[in-house]
Amino acid sequence: MTETRTSVTVTVNGRAVEAAPGELLIDVAERAGTYIPRFCYHPRMEPVGMCRMCLVEVEGPRGATLQPACYQHVNDGMVVTTDSPKAKKAQEGVLEFLLANHPLDCPVCDKGGECPLQDQTLTHGPGETRFVEEKRHFVKPIEIGPLVLLDRERCIQCARCTRFAAEVAGDTEIAFAGRGDLIEVAPSPEHPFTSVFSGNTVQICPVGALTAKPYRFAARPWDLDQVESTCTQCAVGCRLAVQSSGDRLTRVLGVDSDPVNHGWLCDKGRFTLDAVDGHGGLSDPLDPRARITSPLVRRDGTLVEATWGEALARAAELLRAAGEADGGVGVIGGAALTNESAYAWARVAREVLGTEHVDAQYGDGLDPRRVLALPGATIDDACAARVVLTLCGDPREELPVLFLRLRGALVRPGHDLVELAVGPSALHPLATVSIPVRPGEAHRVVDALLDEGRAPADLALDDDARERARRLLGDGEGVVVVAGRTNLAEDPSVVERALTRLADALPRARFLVALRRGNVRGAIDAGLAPGLRPGRVLAAGGRDTRAQLAALREGVQRAVLVLGDLVGNVIDRPGAEAALERADVVVVTGHGGATLAHADVVLPAAVQHERAGTVTNLEGRVTAVVPKVVAPGAAWPDVAIAAELARALGADLAMDSVVEAARAYESATGYPALSVLLDSTSEGRVAGSPSAPVARRPLDPMAFPGIRSAEWVGLGESAGDRSPPPRWPTSPRPRCPRCPDATPTASR
Ligand code: SF4
Ligand code: SF4
Ligand code: FES
Repeated sequence: MTETRTSVTVTVNGRAVEAAPGELLIDVAERAGTYIPRFCYHPRMEPVGMCRMCLVEVEGPRGATLQPACYQHVNDGMVVTTDSPKAKKAQEGVLEFLLANHPLDCPVCDKGGECPLQDQTLTHGPGETRFVEEKRHFVKPIEIGPLVLLDRERCIQCARCTRFAAEVAGDTEIAFAGRGDLIEVAPSPEHPFTSVFSGNTVQICPVGALTAKPYRFAARPWDLDQVESTCTQCAVGCRLAVQSSGDRLTRVLGVDSDPVNHGWLCDKGRFTLDAVDGHGGLSDPLDPRARITSPLVRRDGTLVEATWGEALARAAELLRAAGEADGGVGVIGGAALTNESAYAWARVAREVLGTEHVDAQYGDGLDPRRVLALPGATIDDACAARVVLTLCGDPREELPVLFLRLRGALVRPGHDLVELAVGPSALHPLATVSIPVRPGEAHRVVDALLDEGRAPADLALDDDARERARRLLGDGEGVVVVAGRTNLAEDPSVVERALTRLADALPRARFLVALRRGNVRGAIDAGLAPGLRPGRVLAAGGRDTRAQLAALREGVQRAVLVLGDLVGNVIDRPGAEAALERADVVVVTGHGGATLAHADVVLPAAVQHERAGTVTNLEGRVTAVVPKVVAPGAAWPDVAIAAELARALGADLAMDSVVEAARAYESATGYPALSVLLDSTSEGRVAGSPSAPVARRPLDPMAFPGIRSAEWVGLGESAGDRSPPPRWPTSPRPRCPRCPDATPTASR
């Protein structure tokens, strides 16, 4: 009987190392504490063995030969030497060759100070060059897209950027052009580099060849301070590092969270820092780019600055008066807040104002009582599924990094996509079966898909496609349904009915509910949903956003507390404006916007990167958000505003800090909050799951500032000391060693 081995033993620099069969030598050596220099290798992409920087000596039947460690799978008994004279000479040769043309731009290059080429030249380079010839010169920089600049002479042709575009994002907007020493990265002649993922190429470029326009010359790496946080621009909840210089946000980088974003970000999450500083101080409160830095109260028809005391007193007066009538007051918005803030506002609504009319969704979501009760799936579940069924909008537009994760799974054999879509989505080319759905017909199409009889003729469905989809779906075993609004013009009940039918007919299927807004799932869990109290406890009644706007227009509801910009987000904008025109309106927001034209009181709030707390992503994973800069002017965190407004209304929430709010939220709902808040660099926990937080491995030290390789191979405090072997850190994660408040790493 053949025995299948589950581990092999490899000898690296004389030390025996256990590894999984087929693991890449570069990873095995790194785990054992031997850093092999590299440029083209990226742990989230297929190895290509392109740069030859990772050459090491591997014993074989014909003696030791030089092999690229990133392209070599380990097998039992393999003997490897990474620092033999032959290996060192090869590594020096590669660096000398790269530097023959690479310009000495370091003092003015964005990458200078965190550059793997600099670091590896110091640790593995020859010390001096024999080249005296003129280096290549190109016009620089060239703009290859709206956000990305290319300095061609800095490129070392590692193909990380072009591979990311083709392999991860599925874009063909950049590729290599030319040959020999004239080879260069070039945008497609037809299209500029407008990918929504373009910033990732800048982050993974190991030199300063690709730079981001918003960050170019903005700061030097050693001036940056950073925290690890979570993106709240959409419901994927990508983990990121937020960097600042002084009290100015300068850059956002993707952090490699294994269950969520694999280090990738979309450009919306990466490049929206301007929104935090209010574009340099725009002062028109109706401009959504402006920051609100002071409480405002409407006097004689005009919003004027007021003190916090005046504004809170006026807000309390309006809300109290409206709340005296049955159903006279409600709360709309809150999907951009933290869980703790959403919980604080849910308590203000229910315990202080006595209303069940609360809704964090602006009419563009689904009924959480129906869709969040379906058996849930994580992003990893969807990526491991035998069949993914999509009944949602285009994931690349709405939840970009979810698209990357799904695409990464669907290009591999053994995974099928059944697409029910209003129009071809970015996943369409990967679909095994694609069934068109006209607006308003999703439930009928699902019925026709699941029923074996003939489909109604007016649906014009292809019987072959229907049959193939039905066979793929089976009884739902191994099926994950990605479910969201396919069309904002249709009634949400269309999709809700379709999902209910799918859940009945496919009892083993699970559902990844793709609500789009940043922390909408957390807001719902915290109680900002009609008919759902904190912890998703069912309650009676409650108007959703559409019903509240109708009640305001009819004069049944007198006042509304708006958390965010209602008018700028709602689908029926004229209807919302007509409703607010008749109402008493208190707005809590960090930004200006059209809602403020109708506000009687405006309470200025801190926004993302200025507040602490936890958020819940679309799969139910709770992670921490960490403030990096101080909110401008008199803006407060929402938790504080809610507590003070409650006090002005005569109640005490007993939540005067985020920690108190997290503790109260956790004990009221049973969802994790405090533990996540206190361990803010963990990958978080899926709400309701008993699993412990997973420590994250910084998979690509080259893509992340604070390259630790230099320490390992002789530049750090422990120069020359290679034993005991370094280990990947468990939580807490080490901070950037170049940052002023760096936490010393405990990785050894
Ligand atoms: S631009 Fe950067 S990532 Fe792209 S091939 Fe050149 S060095 Fe590599
Ligand atoms: S996919 Fe969503 S969470 Fe991730 S970076 Fe983009 S906007 Fe942020
Ligand atoms: S060839 Fe191995 S890292 Fe480039």
